[in-house]
Amino acid sequence: MKTIFSGIQPSGTLTIGNYLGAIQQFVQLQEEHDCYFCIVDEHAITVPQDRLKLRQNIRSLAAIYLASGINPDSSTLFIQSEVSAHTQLGWMLQSISYMGELERMTQFKDKSEGKEAVSSALFTYPSLMASDILLYNTDIVPVGEDQKQHLELTRNLAQRFNNRFNDIFTVPEVKIPKVGARIMSLQEPTKKMSKSDTNEKGFISMLDEPKKIEKKIKSAVTDSDGIVKFDKENKPGVSNLLTIESSCTGKSIEALEAKYEGKGYGDFKQGVANAVIDVLQPIQEKYYALLDSEELDTILDHGAEKAALTANKNLAKAKKAMGLGRVKKKK
Ligand code: TYM
Repeated sequence: MKTIFSGIQPSGTLTIGNYLGAIQQFVQLQEEHDCYFCIVDEHAITVPQDRLKLRQNIRSLAAIYLASGINPDSSTLFIQSEVSAHTQLGWMLQSISYMGELERMTQFKDKSEGKEAVSSALFTYPSLMASDILLYNTDIVPVGEDQKQHLELTRNLAQRFNNRFNDIFTVPEVKIPKVGARIMSLQEPTKKMSKSDTNEKGFISMLDEPKKIEKKIKSAVTDSDGIVKFDKENKPGVSNLLTIESSCTGKSIEALEAKYEGKGYGDFKQGVANAVIDVLQPIQEKYYALLDSEELDTILDHGAEKAALTANKNLAKAKKAMGLGRVKKKK
């Protein structure tokens, strides 16, 4: 049995990209492993947030995790800011993170580009992310492709800490799904699908109603040659839709190409829409039942307690290794 850790930012309603790239893997992994899933609200405040919306988004994300199939009896589901060890170790890891390596992070470059006021927390975000992971002796971190660079940095920080101080941290492996690691925008299929896209037609939210899903997929950008074939370079729109249907249904890309042979994009898009609706509809039903329940609070309270047990132990080891605190004199 391995230890798994992953996190999602509560920065808006999740997209089908978050689901297919991340949550779907989480649900599969939890059967065999010891899993920690986190609502990383301290990461969300690295860019400005509306206080009331943030609180809603945190609760909403917890309900999405559970509605998607995260089992609170076997997995630990918790809110990052409710386990204070995260920011404490995050600070300690900042002290061994280099400006140069943080400057190379593409997520920082993307999120800061053209912005006037960029917070220093956005810059040191990857050190906090490393802390999330390292606090739990994590073996495997399931994420979408966009987090690969952050994971490499996490591994470097773990090794650096172990070499410089004491061999405390497990060096984690990244796990990226074979299909669905990078779901693209429906409107600009060479860009990642993102919940912060200003064009609502570019992404499918996990809470979009079936009619809206259908509409968005029908207006997805494709090409003019009318053949349903996977070719990322020349047919990014069609390839993205094929990827979406494949990861929603578990059918291979080849099987889907065969299914749509001789058919037009109208039929194809209807098929993709049906596959997405089949996945999201049951999740949405459970989501609305959970959102305002007391059960949700009980699960999150219990999760934070359980997470803190492991996190505080590892934090204490790391503090000692670094020489923080004091040696108490015996009375
Ligand atoms: P976040 O909140 O942006 O995304 C959550 C997860 O969804 C994946 N993802 C995608 N996968 C496929 N296609 C897409 N279009 C797509 N968009 C997002 C992401 O790769 C991620 O797995 N830094 C992280 C949150 C984090 C974290 C952690 C993750 C904080 N601490 C520790 C793992 C371990 C983030 O911003 O993810």
